[in-house]
Amino acid sequence: MSDKLRGKVAIVTGASSGIGEAAARALAAEGAHVVVAARRAERLAALVSDIEESGGTALAVPTDVTKRESVEALVRQTLDAFGRLDILVNNAGIMPLSLIRKLHVEEWDRMIDVNIKGVLYCIAACLPSMLDQGGGGGHIVNVSSVAGRRPFPGGTIYSATKFAVRAISQGIHLELSAKDRIRVVDIEPGVVATELTDHITDEDIATRFETTWADKTRLRASDVSEAILFAVTQPDRVNVNEILVRPTDQET
Ligand SMILES: NC(=O)c1ccc[n+]([C@@H]2O[C@H](COP(=O)([O-])OP(=O)(O)OC[C@H]3O[C@@H](n4cnc5c(N)ncnc54)[C@H](OP(=O)(O)O)[C@@H]3O)[C@@H](O)[C@H]2O)c1
Repeated sequence: MSDKLRGKVAIVTGASSGIGEAAARALAAEGAHVVVAARRAERLAALVSDIEESGGTALAVPTDVTKRESVEALVRQTLDAFGRLDILVNNAGIMPLSLIRKLHVEEWDRMIDVNIKGVLYCIAACLPSMLDQGGGGGHIVNVSSVAGRRPFPGGTIYSATKFAVRAISQGIHLELSAKDRIRVVDIEPGVVATELTDHITDEDIATRFETTWADKTRLRASDVSEAILFAVTQPDRVNVNEILVRPTDQET
């Protein structure tokens, strides 16, 4: 346990696995009170136990970011438990890649719902208390992707959602940074070893992805949580706005 974030309160969405889980552990290890959100309640409960056993403070709030009332309840429970909100890690996301000509329109819809609307619902629910708590402002961490800088075959709609997240990050910076002390960082990971690819139903793309990465080394979730931690532990005058982090083995 260290104390760079002692007294701060953080919400982490998508904390039941991968980058979100690693981010929750990293923030808690720096002394933040961490509220972990996702749909899989058992995973969240196990994570809270782990964090508490290591001397940290955490609260599990099962949440579906595609439902506005669920996200509002998440923020309400956070404020009831800890009285303030300093950091939002807007991380929940899905990536059911497919070629456009296969018209997996339902998967396109789900990506838009989770990766864009979910991110916006979380911002809408968190921003009022960040703006109201006077002086301290708040920190929004949006997990976009290297795909938010360039599309790739099979990743067009996913990439579009991550371009949107980057635009949202840049717009928040323009509107809320200097005036309201709301800092925002866009985290743009390359390929990370997590469960994200488990939900790809287009077998051509799933096979292509696994073949391409069979002999290469992906990032670990903790490599990305280190980048998140770097951004949110800077002094108030420092606004880290964008971090692109790729595996050394990844060219584009
Ligand atoms: N892995 C990579 O290569 C990579 C690269 C660049 C960017 N990213 C981004 O990193 C973020 C985290 O992904 P990951 O790689 O850590 O994958 P992951 O292990 O699959 O984690 C995704 C998380 O999102 C949650 N989630 C999905 N739908 C949700 C919903 N409707 N409501 C609430 N939570 C939901 C999942 O929890 P539940 O299923 O329990 O709800 C899970 O905790 C995503 O935004 C992803 O796009 C990943």
